[in-house]
Amino acid sequence: MTDRILIIDFGSQVTQLIARRVRESGVYSEVHPFNKVTEDSIRDFDPRGVILSGGPASVIGDDTPRAPQGLFEMGLPVLGICYGQQTMVAQLGGQVEDADHREFGRAFVDVTTGCTLFDGVWAKGDREQVWMSHGDRVNALPDGFNAVGTSDGAPFAAIADEARKFYGVQFHPEVVHTPQGAALIENFTHKICGAAGDWTMAAFKDQAIAAVRAQVGEGRVICGLSGGVDSSVVAALLHEAIGDQLTCVLVDHGLMRAGETEQVIEVFRDQFNINLVLNDAEDLFLGKLAGKTDPEEKRKIIGATFIDVFEAEAKKVGGADFLAQGTLYPDVIESVSFAGGPSVTIKSHHNVGGLPDRMNMDLVEPLRELFKDEVRNLGRELGLPDTMVGRHPFPGPGLAIRIPGQEITKERLDTLRKADAIYLEEIRNAGLYDAIWQAFAVLLPVRTVGVMGDSRSYDYALALRAVTSTDGMTADYFHFDMEFLGRVANRIINEVKGVNRVTYDVTSKPPGTIEWE
Ligand code: XMP
Repeated sequence: MTDRILIIDFGSQVTQLIARRVRESGVYSEVHPFNKVTEDSIRDFDPRGVILSGGPASVIGDDTPRAPQGLFEMGLPVLGICYGQQTMVAQLGGQVEDADHREFGRAFVDVTTGCTLFDGVWAKGDREQVWMSHGDRVNALPDGFNAVGTSDGAPFAAIADEARKFYGVQFHPEVVHTPQGAALIENFTHKICGAAGDWTMAAFKDQAIAAVRAQVGEGRVICGLSGGVDSSVVAALLHEAIGDQLTCVLVDHGLMRAGETEQVIEVFRDQFNINLVLNDAEDLFLGKLAGKTDPEEKRKIIGATFIDVFEAEAKKVGGADFLAQGTLYPDVIESVSFAGGPSVTIKSHHNVGGLPDRMNMDLVEPLRELFKDEVRNLGRELGLPDTMVGRHPFPGPGLAIRIPGQEITKERLDTLRKADAIYLEEIRNAGLYDAIWQAFAVLLPVRTVGVMGDSRSYDYALALRAVTSTDGMTADYFHFDMEFLGRVANRIINEVKGVNRVTYDVTSKPPGTIEWE
């Protein structure tokens, strides 16, 4: 079995980043909530080492989260981060106090002693930038521990018991604001835990294919293919695993961008030779959307209609035993909520939510353990073209939520599609596509006056949006140069009939959202 690291989650906002950093060091890792972890579950998981995450609780309070006490008797290396360090110290007989000097944000650690965690990264006497976020701090160490780093607010900013391979840091090595944090985590996984660091996408692909074959057997699998990164990678992986037992269904709701349906067909039917059923449902969707302008109502109509069409296609294929979905790790990870106890946050995949229950099929979710950029790497490993794997996210309801405040008509969709295609073509030509998280045009419900030739025009205004982001949760507008924006505006106004004014949206998220509705 591949070497693995267990991360026990105490509810920090950034626990997932620990898993990311561990995987980037070539070691597989999983995040388990503290209240589900027992000595037995640790033994079953069989990790090479354990990381205790940060969290919002205080170890000084009554009845606050703890690691299973037996963890410290199992002979496994342990790295405690922030709250994880504090609970380890408290559980091993040291002391934690409520500090007067809280530290939030950038701080500096003075390295007082070398240790394996710092090996080749930090040396005695260095002053190193880290990111802190704590009120409590350790004020007396358990037997066997030494302080190896101090900060203004934390005399025990880093501690080590080299004999037992227990390490604790008050700062967060998993965030990018601790510049050498990833290297420290790699020291933990490689030098302290002795993990091989051989967890690669090629290895994952082989395991995932074997797992799909074992799950599906001779069964039939159906997969909704939208052309987005996740469903494309699921389809390519399943095809490699089970060949013709897979049927993909592409529901064209008429809300796609220019050329998108054609590209999906070209790649999957022509290059990959996958069984692909296309349902051209444009009229059906536009009929149901007629007269609707409320964003949530549009979303509901599109979601429900999608399920109807998909189900009908599945029946035509002769039924299937399994439904494949592109659920990712951030969707399934169980996060600890301190407001109402532990909570499980499982988002249903937008397009096929509700389908498994209704159609009585088991789910095949081969991406459940992956983060988005890992999915992209897997896609490359499977031979998907970069244009598909590196795509910007595109919402399930498509262009219907980019025509705000107006009825969705074919004419408006065509106008928007043309403008959007020009914008993206210019972005690609300028070499900016990969620097942007998402870029698109929005057809505004405003007509404005213009002069074109000798006559007066009265046409639509259009907004351009481009954002940078790492996860879509927060975003900043992309800083184009004005010349670029002027060129795009000029082309759109000249080439797209019905648009005579172009604006650029400079709202960040929050307070705005990425989409306009
Ligand atoms: P917002 O607009 O909420 O978008 O900042 C965050 C991300 O989610 C996408 N998005 C959707 N995706 N169905 C989807 O599948 C939806 O209804 C939907 N609404 C927004 C959006 O494109 C961005 O990537």
